[in-house]
Amino acid sequence: MAFENGEVSTEQLLHAQAHVWNHLFSFINSMSLKCAIELGIPDIIHNHAKPISLSQLVHALPIPKGKSHFIYRLMRILIHSEFFVSVSDDEEEHYWLTPASLLLLRNAPLSVAPFAQLMLDPVMMKPFYHISEWLASEEHSSPFELVHGRALFEHVGQEPGLNKLLNEATSSDSRLFTHVLLRELQNKCWGIKSLVDVGGGTGTTAKAIAEAFPDMKCSVLDLPHVVGGLEGTNNLTYIAGDMFEAIPSVDAVLFKWILHDWDDEECVKILKKCKEAISGGGKVIIIDMVVDADGTDINNEVIIRETHLFLDITVLAYYNGKERTEKELAKLFVDAGFTTYKITPAFGLRSLIELYP
Ligand SMILES: C[S@@+](CC[C@H](N)C(=O)[O-])C[C@H]1O[C@@H](n2cnc3c(N)ncnc32)[C@H](O)[C@@H]1O
Repeated sequence: MAFENGEVSTEQLLHAQAHVWNHLFSFINSMSLKCAIELGIPDIIHNHAKPISLSQLVHALPIPKGKSHFIYRLMRILIHSEFFVSVSDDEEEHYWLTPASLLLLRNAPLSVAPFAQLMLDPVMMKPFYHISEWLASEEHSSPFELVHGRALFEHVGQEPGLNKLLNEATSSDSRLFTHVLLRELQNKCWGIKSLVDVGGGTGTTAKAIAEAFPDMKCSVLDLPHVVGGLEGTNNLTYIAGDMFEAIPSVDAVLFKWILHDWDDEECVKILKKCKEAISGGGKVIIIDMVVDADGTDINNEVIIRETHLFLDITVLAYYNGKERTEKELAKLFVDAGFTTYKITPAFGLRSLIELYP
């Protein structure tokens, strides 16, 4: 294929240009979303309790009058990206919410707004500008470390603001996850009497499991700057520790969103510690993405595939981590001494992986 010899039609040439431009500017989707969350647009429409007109929306926004004519342009792209719908009345356009914008309400229990705030924070975006520089260099464990001078979890431990942002973001994800998990489990706890959520953050997942199953002894193992000072309950305890050093003996070790943070060698080390922890019989439960797993939601297949690929580059930029295929995961499991695993693509973007010695 050669553009200059005329072997490519004008149509193909212009389509190629549009393709490049579309990808160059696709960050506008994220930035428009960030702007809408920061201005509280989903909350304003939700509080209005019925479709809101452009003038009513503009009136409710914390912006000077002189800037109000920009809002229809912001809403136009967010309608295009399916965060709002336009409900036309004869006189004026009105806006209403979609299932996706309901997840952006600031104080809704299943809000993903804290996750959006973390992901689009300049500290978390900066490593993406330096991936090629990191690839070309012999030093630095990750692009994050190249730009911030410390590995991500170490940096977070020294920056209380970022620590808060990360803990709120992971808690928000865990609220949505446990909502689905507990609904799917329907009071069945797989006969597990004790469980440790390794790298469980401030304990949102473990707390919900402990409340749903009062006879189960639950614990959260995470770094001291995350769990230090947190109070447990009757059947929930916090352990400040390091999963590379020790994991307590239990029936089930839960890893939600952990393995993708680490390279293969580190994953095998962590999994070997897990095997010791369940040496009395038990299993490891992993919640993570499985690239190329058959999705349960056929309509969402393209979105899921693309999001897996986005996340793969994200964890590369943050920690030199990796979103793995089943084959890559299976190799880790065998290398750590496990014999059996079962993957259920149960949670949209993420799968449930049960691992047995
Ligand atoms: C991506 S977050 C996932 C949090 C939580 N599992 C979730 O799904 O929301 C990774 C977690 O691993 C914790 N972590 C990192 N290194 C650790 C270590 N060496 N030992 C224990 N936890 C660690 C971090 O503090 C953080 O809470």
